[in-house]
Amino acid sequence: MSHKVTLIPGDGIGPEVTKATVRILEATGVKFDWETFAVGTEAYEKSGEYIPKEVIESIESTRVGLKGPVTTPIGGGFSSINVALRQKFELYANFRPIRNLPHIPTRFPDVDLIIVRENTESLYSGLEHEVVPGVIESLKIITEKASTRIARFAFEYARKNQRKKIHAIHKANIMKLSDGLFLRCSRNVAKEYPEITYGEHIVDNTCMQLVMNPYQYDMLVMDNLYGDIISDLCAAFVGGLGFVPSANLGDHCAIFEAVHGSAPDIAGKNLANPTALLRSALLMLRHLGEHEAATQIRNALENVYRHKDKLTRDIGGKAGTSQFADAVIEAMAEAETHKAAAPSRA
Ligand code: NAI
Repeated sequence: MSHKVTLIPGDGIGPEVTKATVRILEATGVKFDWETFAVGTEAYEKSGEYIPKEVIESIESTRVGLKGPVTTPIGGGFSSINVALRQKFELYANFRPIRNLPHIPTRFPDVDLIIVRENTESLYSGLEHEVVPGVIESLKIITEKASTRIARFAFEYARKNQRKKIHAIHKANIMKLSDGLFLRCSRNVAKEYPEITYGEHIVDNTCMQLVMNPYQYDMLVMDNLYGDIISDLCAAFVGGLGFVPSANLGDHCAIFEAVHGSAPDIAGKNLANPTALLRSALLMLRHLGEHEAATQIRNALENVYRHKDKLTRDIGGKAGTSQFADAVIEAMAEAETHKAAAPSRA
């Protein structure tokens, strides 16, 4: 069976990290039928649309997308392709696992934390206006529907993946109505999952607690703004944004992407590190039910990270993007050879 996936390589380093990731995915033997499209400026020059309708139609039919970073022009042009895709396909859950890789310098080894961010509302509603000159009002939207939906997503994930604890992150001491509603919804959902410990922490305290001791948390669920900030803070536990995958999940579609940008300063030079997109692709493989292939790549990636010379320059190695991909593919092949050579147990 072949998985149909909409592939958006993006621009800048996007095509390089996407090519490396696709090669590694295909080396597992899993079959993909890629539907590849440009978005952003490149698409606009060809079709007059930043997100051509073929891309929308493709995601509607494949229901799975793998996306590289796209440059957002400054001072004009389009706003964010990511925000537009999240809204279009109601990708309401942003899911970011935070886990260390060997050899990446960090203050905290063995972090295993999951951040679930509501992706569609809060202060990112985009509803802003000038009340009178010099006074801007920006609306924070919190709904019972979206808050319950994101809490349920987090608790369902916890139940299916044997996670033990969920904290809802809020500022309901000040925003009593909006964050109060978010908390009420989280509490109501928590009652249906008695095996999972439920806690609530105020967002500013959470930042301090995380930096003091990230191990006290297991899963965090929060609104869009807090999620945006805290997920970047947590990326620092594992070496920065270059190592963190993300999935944008809805009830009908899912788009997997790295959280870093298009890195125009190193684009086209075979310098980019494809790890974040590759780890996002691992989330995609699990979403597609290809758990064996996901584990195979994860193990190979961790093996490559044990050899500094095989790493890309951003983390002190010497390899280019394509050599890094070669090393992961070789590590997978070696693991398969060892498996085949190991005496089978009767
Ligand atoms: P950036 O993440 O592209 O780059 C920041 C720094 O990190 C640069 O020095 C870059 O060389 C380095 N870097 C980033 N990814 C790397 C990788 N995989 N390997 C090695 N080094 C890497 O952030 P910046 O410069 O703020 O944004 C550039 C463009 O990307 C902007 O137009 C921005 O709007 C867009 N962007 C797109 C995103 C997306 O499509 N998901 C997310 C974030 C930014």
